[in-house]
Amino acid sequence: MDNDFQDETIEDSSAEYNEDTTYQDEHPGLIGIVYGDVGTAELKCSVMAPLEKGEYVQVPHESCGPVLGQVDRMERKTNLSVDKAIKMSQGELMDIQEKVLAEITIIGYRDEQGLLQTPRAPFKAGSPVTRADDELITKVIGIKCGEKTGAFIGMLSGHDIPILLDINDMVSKHVSILAKTGGGKSYVTGVLVEELLKHDATVMVIDPHGEYGSLRDPGTPSEYAEKFGIHPRGYADQIAEFSPDTKTNKDAKPLRFTLGNLEARDIISLTNVKNVRQALPALKKVLEMIKATKPTFSMKDIIRTLEAQEDAQNVNLIQELLYLDDINIFAERGTKLDELVQKGKMTILNLKGTAPDIAGLIVNRVLTSLFEMRKINAIPPMLVVVDEAVNYCPQQGSTAASKIIRTIAAEGRKFGLGMVVITQRAAKIDKNVLSQCGTQIILKITNPLDLKAVISSVEGLTAGTTEEIQQLPLGIAIVCGAGLQVPLFIRVRPRETRHGGENVKIIED
Ligand SMILES: Nc1ncnc2c1ncn2[C@@H]1O[C@H](COP(=O)(O)OP(=O)(O)OP(=O)(O)O)[C@@H](O)[C@H]1O
Ligand SMILES: [Mg+2]
Repeated sequence: MDNDFQDETIEDSSAEYNEDTTYQDEHPGLIGIVYGDVGTAELKCSVMAPLEKGEYVQVPHESCGPVLGQVDRMERKTNLSVDKAIKMSQGELMDIQEKVLAEITIIGYRDEQGLLQTPRAPFKAGSPVTRADDELITKVIGIKCGEKTGAFIGMLSGHDIPILLDINDMVSKHVSILAKTGGGKSYVTGVLVEELLKHDATVMVIDPHGEYGSLRDPGTPSEYAEKFGIHPRGYADQIAEFSPDTKTNKDAKPLRFTLGNLEARDIISLTNVKNVRQALPALKKVLEMIKATKPTFSMKDIIRTLEAQEDAQNVNLIQELLYLDDINIFAERGTKLDELVQKGKMTILNLKGTAPDIAGLIVNRVLTSLFEMRKINAIPPMLVVVDEAVNYCPQQGSTAASKIIRTIAAEGRKFGLGMVVITQRAAKIDKNVLSQCGTQIILKITNPLDLKAVISSVEGLTAGTTEEIQQLPLGIAIVCGAGLQVPLFIRVRPRETRHGGENVKIIED
């Protein structure tokens, strides 16, 4: 509907607020009237009451009943020319005639079978356009998830309609949370996790900055939160935190791995060994020797056995293994999976202070175990939340965890292992992973490359949405997928718990 407003002649501005009160009396909540050439999927409306882009409206259709639409574009047409504007700036009084016009995109109506339909014949010019009632919106856009399985993440923007995302759907179809830095990804993830815990879902969060431990603590009460029915509370009794670095992360239990489960190649991939061709067979040989005599062994055992070979070529390998030993993530007895994952609880894998290569290996080991255990139903169906996912599954290059994340994205559904992928760089994350996510929560994004990646990987988003994503205020998200007919703008609900990712201030206010 480009240039649709151009042919309109400007009439008296009183047209904006129609003096014909009888028409308005007949149609309570009237905001405009359909005019001009009318289609079945879109129409134009002369606006008579305050209205904003994105608002839901309803228009009666002679054979379909009330049909839901959304304001797509608005324009105030005036007869103020440049010359007149200049005169006005010089103090001359001007009589400005204007009217407000809106373009409405038709979303549709539900037929007797509950299927979403759009009219097959055009609407009538002169039809009244009124603000949509909540019942029609709820019915048409497909918000049907109940409280039993639904995660309450916020309210439909401009309405008091709660938006609930189906938790079972999240497990089977994955979720992506996309926004620029400081856009509110971790905040909304916190909201999601609170809901998961409230529903006794099993969750693991890969937490690169140690932000999620704050879910133990209640947030501060506020009138705003009350409006959402949100009261501060903590989830301490449902949270277990593990970290390879318990010196930095004092609330966490130590996370350790059994060396016996690692291949020589895995160990080498954690090092900066210069001559891999020499080091790999040397390490393989030593591992075989040790495994033949000891069921459990430590890094020190490997180093000692290598030293005993008295081979000058092993010096570099030994140095690298000494570094790994220092990091202290290997032990004769590793952390058991049933300790790590408990039904109805959240496990935080706190990787704050852990070097990126080691973090990659840890994520790989843990996710591989989860996937294998889910296959044999040894752990409950669960969701894994991967914050800063680009660290583990970049589009360019790979990390130790790339493969398993791609596998869970593609096959997790079959085994009840869902993923919530969070990133500030949609353009830099593995597209295979992003495209497998059936629900997207999009907050403000401004980087053109990231915007392009989001628009191209998310069904139902149009190029027109690009501008809106760039302008989203903090706390407003676009939710797509999740069984919804159209992307929804939602006001993210306040947190029950303290948000651990607060912006750091240099001056206290
Ligand atoms: N819905 C919201 N309501 C109120 N404050 C919010 C909301 N979302 C985010 N904030 C505030 O905005 C700041 C940044 O939010 P958050 O930590 O979630 O960003 P992020 O997208 O995770 O950033 P990064 O990519 O740097 O990790 C925080 O101070 C947080 O309290
Ligand atoms: Mg964050």
